[in-house]
Amino acid sequence: MKIQNICCIGAGYVGGPTMAVIAKKCPDIKVTVVDINQERIAAWNDENVENIPVYEPGLSAVVAEARGRNLFFSTDVDKAIDEAEMIFISVNTPTKTYGEGKGQAADLKWIELCARQIARVAKGDKIVVEKSTLPVRTASTLKDILTHTGDGLSFQILSNPEFLAEGTAVEDLMDPDRVLIGGDQTPEGLKAIQALVDVYGRWVPRERILTTNVWSSELSKLTANAYLAQRVSSINSLSELCEFTEADINEVARAIGTDSRIGPKFLKASVGFGGSCFQKDILNLVYISRSYGLNEVADYWEQVIIMNDHQKRRFAKKIIKNLYNTVSGKKIAFLGWAFKKDTNDTRESAAIYVADHLLNEQSIIEIYDPKVKKQQVYTDLDYLGSRSSEENRKNASVGTDPYKVCEGSHAVAVLTEWDEFKSYDWQRIYDGMLKPAHVFDGRNILDKEALQSIGFQVHAIGTAD
Ligand code: NAD
Ligand code: UDX
Repeated sequence: MKIQNICCIGAGYVGGPTMAVIAKKCPDIKVTVVDINQERIAAWNDENVENIPVYEPGLSAVVAEARGRNLFFSTDVDKAIDEAEMIFISVNTPTKTYGEGKGQAADLKWIELCARQIARVAKGDKIVVEKSTLPVRTASTLKDILTHTGDGLSFQILSNPEFLAEGTAVEDLMDPDRVLIGGDQTPEGLKAIQALVDVYGRWVPRERILTTNVWSSELSKLTANAYLAQRVSSINSLSELCEFTEADINEVARAIGTDSRIGPKFLKASVGFGGSCFQKDILNLVYISRSYGLNEVADYWEQVIIMNDHQKRRFAKKIIKNLYNTVSGKKIAFLGWAFKKDTNDTRESAAIYVADHLLNEQSIIEIYDPKVKKQQVYTDLDYLGSRSSEENRKNASVGTDPYKVCEGSHAVAVLTEWDEFKSYDWQRIYDGMLKPAHVFDGRNILDKEALQSIGFQVHAIGTAD
């Protein structure tokens, strides 16, 4: 079967970039990305392509090339479903905030709504592709809804989890380590798998396109994220030990990373991992394991989250301890709010939790991030519900000039590893600060010795002060 029309439901951090790259690589396929969020769709269609809602290096160029040619963004979900032979579901699947599984299970209400809408609108057979990260066995729920409400049409469900990381999304999509496609191992299922293989096969070498059954594919996505997050929590746990023993976590990471079985990637100690995926997916893994009565499995993975929460809290406490055990009324400058560099995404960013802790101690926080808008910072703080939004606006402010943000502060805390922070005029920053001037480098990106020679008291992750 040759695919000519693709629809993607969900124009977020995954749907947008993924479909933009498919459209770029397959100019003969019409790709329509739909969303119920009108503002988001309007931003994707903004005349000035720099105003698209997702900041990713290289993305605006890809969108500029394909948009209006074979890439379209629309709020008309029904029309796009009707036209497409293949429908990707790329909606959000956040941790449940209510009811059974609250705080752990993935909330699948948006997924189910999509399935019901597809069933209602479809007039012909469709291939439905799970692009969202989903609990293992979700495909059976989708199949149930589609086959019982879909007027006798035939639906094939594929699992095609996305492995892109934010900040490198375009690179990851253009040259992925692998593409994973799971489907029914029946003649119809294999045909559907092949249709999707043919899409990716335009630019991904065939040996990097892995095909398997649906359940292995669904579980592989949760597993990949759990493994990656586990590496960060492992190195972070040892960073604390380093701070007590004069071992240097960067040296330890270098030493173990040269073992080819361990490898050098994902060994950067930090203030803690953030992002919309790691925590959500591990919590989901924990929930699924426990629901099968596998308590040891659940406890094992839960520890990754416990360690990460500890790392974020530990960083905030370290600031307080070094500012003579009180930050009340003291200004602390935050460099970075995004959960990592090269993205404007702030979901689960460590910065939010560190700020919350310090605001509870009556600190005054001023924030600078090159890509995060002021409104987003307040949305993140308000979402925690720790204090009124008036108090958040009174005690936390957002600036656009990093030097002004640092001026008059007792401490500067680096929360995101943006490259530009490394090349700031740190002497100028020092001159404008109260003394003793502290730097808390939550990303180990600054030159500790150079800062010390200016006069800063420098506190990094995983090295003794
Ligand atoms: P997102 O919140 O940025 O985007 C989801 C979009 O879906 C939103 O714009 C929302 O309005 C839209 N939506 C929700 N319900 C809808 C409906 N019924 N009809 C039309 N639109 C609807 O989320 P995201 O970061 O793109 O993540 C999407 C999925 O991909 C999640 O399951 C996530 O776990 C997974 N994932 C994310 C990443 C990542 O780096 N962000 C990477 C891999 C996988
Ligand atoms: C992750 C997965 O990497 C990706 O494959 C999946 O599709 C979605 O989830 P993402 O969350 O976008 O991607 O970014 P990632 O690079 O994995 O970083 C996650 C968090 O871990 C960030 O806060 C990052 O700063 C932190 N991190 C990462 C570290 O603290 N140390 C490291 O060594 C690596």
